[in-house]
Amino acid sequence: MVKTRRELILEEMGLTPIWRLRGSAAAKEGDGAVDAETGVLDQASAASGRRSSVTGHAFPAEAADSRAAAIMGLDWPSIKARVATCTDCALHQKRTKTVFGVGDENADWLFVGEGPGADEDAQGEPFVGQAGKLLDNMLAAIRLRRGENVYIANCVKCRPPGNRNPEPGELHACEPYLHRQIELIGPKLIVALGKVAVSNLLATDASIASLRGKIHQYRGIPLIVTYHPAYLLRSLPDKSKAWVDLCFAVRAMTDLQDNSASAR
Ligand code: URA
Ligand code: SF4
Repeated sequence: MVKTRRELILEEMGLTPIWRLRGSAAAKEGDGAVDAETGVLDQASAASGRRSSVTGHAFPAEAADSRAAAIMGLDWPSIKARVATCTDCALHQKRTKTVFGVGDENADWLFVGEGPGADEDAQGEPFVGQAGKLLDNMLAAIRLRRGENVYIANCVKCRPPGNRNPEPGELHACEPYLHRQIELIGPKLIVALGKVAVSNLLATDASIASLRGKIHQYRGIPLIVTYHPAYLLRSLPDKSKAWVDLCFAVRAMTDLQDNSASAR
């Protein structure tokens, strides 16, 4: 039997056999350990740290508010220029290039990761390393392509040294950029990739497992969650869950597009 391109892609993602054999049962599997979802250490305080205040952060509250307000007034060229020279958190010290984001600036789909890794730091573009290849394959599996109705961004625009997790203060410092980016793009659906993005965007410590399969909101924009591609590279069984999540996202997007068409 000749395989279709789509089948080849699913095979590449390690999805097809699992998908065929287990189908929706895969979605019912146990939650799994929270740590295993990301392979990262304590994320428990990330969301509360972010919310708690700006006290642990370089800016006094008032300055932080006026900085955020200034960022919210930026257009595309000025926000890109500002990020390119930003020194507003410690992550600027060791970065090579800032990684602003890439894609269709009017995209319906927005994928949000954690922060640049070594490849991204060198090239200035998100998801260009191994995890990025898998992300591209995941996009292809649902007939999407980087840059075509898709935008890809990260929570922090500068690489955390040694690929450590961004700290709450760093996430907090970079959040206005992502917020403004999202406002300028106006996506119909956000897909949050992995625990750091999820806890940052939804301000929750809940596990990915407990948040999957539901439509959440980021400032009024529908948001769904799934595992981070870098984690999926290490955890074959969860690739089938990511596939379930992508199918859920496609259905959600179809509904959202239908709704906005009927509202016109
Ligand atoms: N991981 C991320 O979260 N973002 C990237 O851009 C690359 C790897
Ligand atoms: Fe600025 Fe964000 Fe880079 Fe920190 S991570 S220096 S806030 S662009």
